[in-house]
Amino acid sequence: MHGTNSLFIPGPTNVPHRVRQAIDRPMEDQRAPDLPDFTLPLYEDVKKIFKSTKGQVFIFPSSGTGGWEAAITNTLSPGDKVLASRFGQFSHLWIDLCQRHALDVDAVEVPWGEGTPVETYAERLAADKGHEIKAVLVCQNETATGVTSDVAAVRKVMDDLGHPALLMVDGVSSIASIDFRMDEWGVDIAVSGSQKGFMLPAGLAILCVSEKALAARKQAKLYRCYFDFDDMIKTNADGFFPYTPPMHMLHGLRAAVDMLLEEGLENVFARHYRLAEGVRRAVSGWGLTLCAKEPKWHSDTVSAICVPDGFDGNELAKLAYLRYGMSFGLGLSKVAGRVFRIGHLGDLNEFMLPSGLSGAEMAMRDLGMPVEAGSGVAAAQEYYRTTARPVPLSKDLAQAS
Ligand SMILES: Cc1ncc(COP(=O)(O)O)c(C=O)c1O
Repeated sequence: MHGTNSLFIPGPTNVPHRVRQAIDRPMEDQRAPDLPDFTLPLYEDVKKIFKSTKGQVFIFPSSGTGGWEAAITNTLSPGDKVLASRFGQFSHLWIDLCQRHALDVDAVEVPWGEGTPVETYAERLAADKGHEIKAVLVCQNETATGVTSDVAAVRKVMDDLGHPALLMVDGVSSIASIDFRMDEWGVDIAVSGSQKGFMLPAGLAILCVSEKALAARKQAKLYRCYFDFDDMIKTNADGFFPYTPPMHMLHGLRAAVDMLLEEGLENVFARHYRLAEGVRRAVSGWGLTLCAKEPKWHSDTVSAICVPDGFDGNELAKLAYLRYGMSFGLGLSKVAGRVFRIGHLGDLNEFMLPSGLSGAEMAMRDLGMPVEAGSGVAAAQEYYRTTARPVPLSKDLAQAS
């Protein structure tokens, strides 16, 4: 294909030129005496992305799944009770990973299209007088359904009840794109990955861990080796690693973090909201609905769009890829075929997204879906046009606009 890559999946996301340039460098000595000059400030700056001053950052060569594993194996013991909820493929997979580590998971079943059930969590925690629940899991952004959960509300429930469980958050498809406040929300472990809001290739699990969660590792008996916080703590303190670090990814991370901090996190979140809102307008323009059942669940990083009865969202994604070279997210597991997903996170702007919307429209029409040509694109354009940053114009132009 000519032109740029048409990736409208919710990760991996586009890697900005500046990040690609930072990665494109010769091999280097991972035990060089001046390595800490690079790594120690990087750790401090990554913490800012989590909005934490008190937490400790861990960067593992891994995907996000390894981050889930690091979170539980460093803090819990076999048989420990964990409160979680299942409302999409990724919340499901974290539960599955906990169960495979012999944790006793109370998995609250939630209709797909809703998020973390705060009231049910409150009931379960209130009933747990003996404080047997050792960890509470929240998937801040369920990538399979395009649903964002209220982490602060879960924290409040735990505080109101004085429940001492650890609060663990999957922020793989939210951190660095949707507001996340590690310290303010009292999160004990936040897990992220490099290939979404961090705008890097896949390959890093990026965690932030509270002092309380770090202390929990002293009693935690789950087996761990590669993901052991202790080994990282010992070596990271001086700016080194317990095994060969992925130096190229770390240089990419340096560039990505610089870009995020230069833009300003609040601006990054506002950009994601605005891009997402344009997509939501397009979905209404098509006469379709989101899998997310209410606006409070709307995700600013991915929209899962329900296809009309009789159509298959995965066929749509396949056709768009084969015919137009454009990638959309598939419907996964319970919602396979019922939705297709548009990822709108990372290095994107309001001209890239209408190209994805245009491709989606073409593919929908190719499949015979009752969608009017241009209806979604026009709705998004109007939203982007009328919410664009004001610029100084000459008098004539100002009158025309
Ligand atoms: C919310 C969420 N959690 C966890 C994961 C797993 O991350 P990875 O595929 O990087 O292992 C993903 C992947 O898309 C995700 O979207």
